[in-house]
Amino acid sequence: MTIPLRLPPAEMRRLGHRAADLVVEHLSTQRTQPVGGPPDPELLAGLFDSRLPDAPTDPVDVLEEVVRDVLATIVRTDHPRFLAYVPGPSNYVGAVADFVAAGLNVFAGQGLVAPGPAVMERITVDWLRQLCGLPDGAGGLFVSGGTMATLIAVHAARVHHGAGAVYVSAHTHRSIRRGLGFLGIDDARVRVVPLDHRYRMEVHELRTMLATDRRAGVPPLCVVATAGTTGTGAVDPLDELAEVCAENGAWLHVDGAYGAAAVLSEQHRHLLAGLGRADSVALDPHKWWFQPYEAGCVLVRDVSLLEAAFAMEAEYLRETRADDVPLNFYDLGPQLTRSFRALKMWMSMRTFGLDAFRRAVDHGIGLVEHAEQMLRTSPGWEIVTPAQLAVLTFRPARSGLPPDAVDGLTRRIAAATLRDGRVLVTTTELDGRPVLRLCATHPETSRADIEQAIDVLDELAAANASDSPEAATR
Ligand SMILES: Cc1ncc(COP(=O)(O)O)c(C=O)c1O
Repeated sequence: MTIPLRLPPAEMRRLGHRAADLVVEHLSTQRTQPVGGPPDPELLAGLFDSRLPDAPTDPVDVLEEVVRDVLATIVRTDHPRFLAYVPGPSNYVGAVADFVAAGLNVFAGQGLVAPGPAVMERITVDWLRQLCGLPDGAGGLFVSGGTMATLIAVHAARVHHGAGAVYVSAHTHRSIRRGLGFLGIDDARVRVVPLDHRYRMEVHELRTMLATDRRAGVPPLCVVATAGTTGTGAVDPLDELAEVCAENGAWLHVDGAYGAAAVLSEQHRHLLAGLGRADSVALDPHKWWFQPYEAGCVLVRDVSLLEAAFAMEAEYLRETRADDVPLNFYDLGPQLTRSFRALKMWMSMRTFGLDAFRRAVDHGIGLVEHAEQMLRTSPGWEIVTPAQLAVLTFRPARSGLPPDAVDGLTRRIAAATLRDGRVLVTTTELDGRPVLRLCATHPETSRADIEQAIDVLDELAAANASDSPEAATR
């Protein structure tokens, strides 16, 4: 007799083995594959044509269809030559952990229902706390990503302090600006602190803005600093900001979604000095700590403030409040039902050991420093901001061209990398002008990949020198 929605064991294994083969193949042949390309409109049109599937289909056939029609369209953000955004180099152990957590459908909201996972999440969060230099008594939880981590922290700050103004910089991640609106903090309560010449929050300006607000009767709620901006990799002056926040009774939140991962680096940790003084920190293990997506983490200096903001009583949850259970994570964040995200971080840290993570982070920084050296010695390029926490910005050097022509070329080069597929580099804007931005965090990216990337950029710069449509074939 067939059981509804259950495959026989042999079929489960057949499907599971095919899925494992698919991932192993993806990871071991990546280098020979293109990074990605523009979407194929015909393929997508075919996908839109799907009908509601009333009848069953062989599961391996379904998976093959997904591989052929769906996964073939993706830009590989985990490719060693994906040098755009913040890359997503994942790891196989983390992916298996996600599979296991989903396969057993671990409900990681309640200590009584999943005590072992609750202890493990607590331990893993504590490892991250120690790495960030936060004191005992700090704690937090795994969440979907960096944005959510920051919004949870800002909400905890608001419950603790009451309403007030939030201070960000022009280089605070846009998802946070958007998220403040989602928390009901409208633009009238958000102050954008100017940047210094290194694109860091200008401390003096912050002091002035805090004083002006105070005179107007607006108390501070929170300062959102960034440890590793997405645009340039700059780290706001955390130590000085901690002083200013202490003097003004403001909560200091540090968005370390991308850059705080560098606490692992003996050599570069000093760049994050002051991180341990924050009231809260957002981390994003799905960026530079090599986890599959949906692994963010929020740490709060006094974890009881998370509980004050999120603890939930409900008559149908009463039995889970037994005294001897480790922790109800639903009391620390907005999710009741939540998956066992800590498992991927825990399993991969245990499997590879922290030293492997340390070397991988240092490797990324070294790659971008190498790119900077190469571009500095090449007459075709101009460095705009130097290598900082694995981010570098630059543009084509064309002394004979007016700035808007250089800007047009900059954008054409980035667009051409997507069509080309050998490497992916995108742009950001600094002082109103586009710049090429390279971010290298993949442990398998080699110096030769970086050299190839620069050769490709040289080639695409030459092919796209003119803005005529015929030039843009590559
Ligand atoms: C500095 C910084 N903060 C926040 C985010 C948003 O993180 P997530 O996309 O995980 O929500 C990013 C993403 O790139 C980031 O670089």
